[in-house]
Amino acid sequence: MKPRVIVTRRWPAAVEQLLAENFDTTFNRGDVPLTPTQFKAAFLNFDAILPTVSDKLPKSIFPEADNRTRIIANYGVGFSHIDVDAARENDIVVTNTPGVLTDCTADIALSLLLAVARRAGEGERQLRAGEWQGWCPTHMIGTKVTGKTLGIIGMGRIGKATAKRAHFGFDMDIVFYNRSKVDDDETRAMGARQLASIEDVLAQSDFVSLHCPGGAENRHLINSARLSAMKKGAFLINTARGDVVDQDALVAALESGGIAGAGLDVFASEPEVPAGLTRMENVVLLPHLGSATEETRVAMGMKALENLTAFFAGEPVPDRVA
Ligand code: DGY
Repeated sequence: MKPRVIVTRRWPAAVEQLLAENFDTTFNRGDVPLTPTQFKAAFLNFDAILPTVSDKLPKSIFPEADNRTRIIANYGVGFSHIDVDAARENDIVVTNTPGVLTDCTADIALSLLLAVARRAGEGERQLRAGEWQGWCPTHMIGTKVTGKTLGIIGMGRIGKATAKRAHFGFDMDIVFYNRSKVDDDETRAMGARQLASIEDVLAQSDFVSLHCPGGAENRHLINSARLSAMKKGAFLINTARGDVVDQDALVAALESGGIAGAGLDVFASEPEVPAGLTRMENVVLLPHLGSATEETRVAMGMKALENLTAFFAGEPVPDRVA
């Protein structure tokens, strides 16, 4: 008998097709997020749950008894929405989809960096509103990107890919903070310097880009004190997770001119975006588009499928995180 699996949201058609061929799959054709009650039922009725980054799997939805689920194959690299300790306690394997969204997420980080520095969102809004008066020497003056210093917080795959684009594409000087020592050819080739503390990175950077995981350990890593430690004309870019930044503190820093602007692809309680941010011109806001390309979304699905296939074949699971 094929394992029973449930997919919590619509996935790319090519991957849904393979899931249908290889498993006894229940799809979410309406693409409406599952409720906590539906999640609880899923743990009792399916061998595998295939959630994604917008689902919430706290301890409270894991079953107290009669759990049927043996694997949670997450569609996404970030897994801070899953209580992995609760999964372990219930003998449930958890996997993610690393590697395949590195380039596209780094591309979005650079898009935000350029857009906020060069006032692209603001300019487009002005033009579409029919308010552009024509070229003049003082119109919508932004900040030059080339040659500036980029500070990376979290020098993993996506941090490095972002740094690489900034250094080789825009001649940017790279400094970074990472909890463990990073010493590899890629980092050396960029002349990137690892600094001792986040504060050191903030003090030196014209742009700060966040690439650390979300969840309890990094919640509000960028708080009011750290925003104050940034240079006055600096910009904050976040393509990691919304909860890494204290959003109220960020709004305050932007309103007071403590920092020059922000480019954000992620928010603490998506899809809610604080009104304090949407009314500001010096902020570029995207609806969590980091991995949103055809190629990457299919590749993420294929990764989840590989994890699932290996698990049910009794083979080592490639992307196991718990
Ligand atoms: C992830 O996979 O964690 C990303 O945030 C999705 O774009």
